[in-house]
Amino acid sequence: ASGAFAGAEVPDMEKRTTMNLLLVGALGLPITALAGPFLYFFFPKSAGSGAGGLTAKDALGNDVRASKWLETHKKGDRSLTQGLKADATYLIINDQNEIEKYGLNAVCTHLGCVVPWNSSENKFMCPCHGSQYNFQGKVVRGPAPLSLALAHCDINDDMVVFTPWTEKDFRTGLDPWWA
Ligand code: FES
Repeated sequence: ASGAFAGAEVPDMEKRTTMNLLLVGALGLPITALAGPFLYFFFPKSAGSGAGGLTAKDALGNDVRASKWLETHKKGDRSLTQGLKADATYLIINDQNEIEKYGLNAVCTHLGCVVPWNSSENKFMCPCHGSQYNFQGKVVRGPAPLSLALAHCDINDDMVVFTPWTEKDFRTGLDPWWA
């Protein structure tokens, strides 16, 4: 019996080692995820491509520079850029003539049309089935079930950088449906 036991010990150890590796691997994920924002903080210049941040791109695919953007986009402007996951994302110019700290994903939460901004109505109005969102992208008329997704928008070295919005949605007080 002890012989069989001794024999069983080896695969057991192997199993345990494998388990440990799996555990380390599993733990590695959240640790990496946590490290992301810190790496991003210490190496802001590399934020263009990695660490969860992405430099906004204009219609020509060029990086959006805040100073240049503000020359041609004024208070109240909501214009499309390419944001996280290449989704069309609105850059907003606030009442202080600054780029707002959040961008709005332009993809309608109903069936995915890109929702145009209607400045005279002060709303985003979807041409596909009539959904409407207020100036902050909060849904005010269906059939869209949810508000437009948020992204953080920061200026680093004059570059406009989007990062995922994972906190509560300040418009609804709810957890973000998109995170
Ligand atoms: Fe926008 Fe249907 S896709 S209302």
